[in-house]
Amino acid sequence: MDKVRIGIVGLGNMGRAHRQNIRDGKVKRIEVTAICDRSDFLPEPVDGEKQFSDVSEMIASGEIDAIHICTPHYSHTPIGIEALHAGLHVLVEKPLSVHKADCQRLIAAYTDRSKVFAAMFNQRTDPHYRTLKSLVDSGEIGKVRRINWTVTDWFRTEYYYALGGWRATWKGEGGGVLLNQCPHNLDLFQWIFGMPRRIHGFCNFGRYHQIEVEDDVTAYFGYDDGKNATFITSTGEAPGQNRLEVVAERGLVTVEEGGIRWKRNTKEMSEFSNTVNAGFAKPDTWDVTIPIEGRGGQHVEILQNFVDAVLDGAPLISPAIEGINSVELANATMLSAWEDKTIHLPMDAGLYEELLMGKAESSTFEKKKIEVMHASADDFSKSF
Ligand SMILES: NC(=O)c1ccc[n+]([C@@H]2O[C@H](COP(=O)([O-])OP(=O)(O)OC[C@H]3O[C@@H](n4cnc5c(N)ncnc54)[C@H](O)[C@@H]3O)[C@@H](O)[C@H]2O)c1
Repeated sequence: MDKVRIGIVGLGNMGRAHRQNIRDGKVKRIEVTAICDRSDFLPEPVDGEKQFSDVSEMIASGEIDAIHICTPHYSHTPIGIEALHAGLHVLVEKPLSVHKADCQRLIAAYTDRSKVFAAMFNQRTDPHYRTLKSLVDSGEIGKVRRINWTVTDWFRTEYYYALGGWRATWKGEGGGVLLNQCPHNLDLFQWIFGMPRRIHGFCNFGRYHQIEVEDDVTAYFGYDDGKNATFITSTGEAPGQNRLEVVAERGLVTVEEGGIRWKRNTKEMSEFSNTVNAGFAKPDTWDVTIPIEGRGGQHVEILQNFVDAVLDGAPLISPAIEGINSVELANATMLSAWEDKTIHLPMDAGLYEELLMGKAESSTFEKKKIEVMHASADDFSKSF
């Protein structure tokens, strides 16, 4: 095989954007040979690209080697399982699934490890986070003691929520900001700092929008090694900010748009504290600035990496099996808020599923009706 024949299921905002990137030649050695959407709004037919309305038919068609799942979250699991069982390579949009039990079911279907199973965590290509990860992994900044991440630049209007009927409902989406916008940040969190042992979450439901799910979250993560973290997010604050602070033995590292600032201790803070004759002093610091341009290859880079993994065995940037971690962070934060108690990880996946299904089934919430104008994939791409 010298080219991957891919089928895209879900030709909404994200599926169309991926299709366009491939059709524009931004990803090498791949062609879209099939698309599938159960609505009537498929793109104009083009030569060499079969159209389906039933994903099972596309999976069984023999027209594709790989599938890219770009449908709403709950369907990632059944479609992914069917595709893996059929022997396809699978690329799934974030989040891996809505809840941990569904992630476990999906991962359990990944038995043929000769196939590639990846997830669209495009922010792993961002040089801000790649650089931070290498500073942490290499031990350059020393042992991490505290992390504060305020990511409130996910501002969304009522109009955005009104656009997708499935969005911001327990039944259609399975959550709000934690499950739609923050899978990226929560994935980066566990990718760089590992999984915490305890979570306490405070969630506000419909604080800024007429929705039934969370649009404002403050969570505390506790680690076994004593490291503490806060994670704050919202889709209602403007202008919002994206500021990640890491307190480590060798200083304070701040990641913001445009670069990394590091107030570097000349001596590890614990070592200095134990220095005889330190008196009331603090370690001296010097300022290190790491300028960073751009946000990396994002969706195109993850797609290219997927193709390279299928054709050449390249290591994956974002293996799908790691997607369960960001889902568990989101679910545990939510469970903590529902039950008003600290959740210990690994969390009880069955309990969370039961409570979530209960909320989905008993919901009588009706979204605010506002007139929805036409929105293009371009409009949405501004919010990726
Ligand atoms: N990685 C990113 O940056 C990013 C950005 C936006 C959305 N997403 C993800 O992409 C996915 C889709 O989001 P979206 O905004 O494109 O949603 P959307 O509502 O615009 O599109 C979803 C499409 O899937 C179709 N669909 C639903 N169920 C189907 C099924 N069983 N078979 C065939 N078609 C089906 C719908 O008809 C619709 O056209 C979600 O997982 C979302 O979180 C990722």
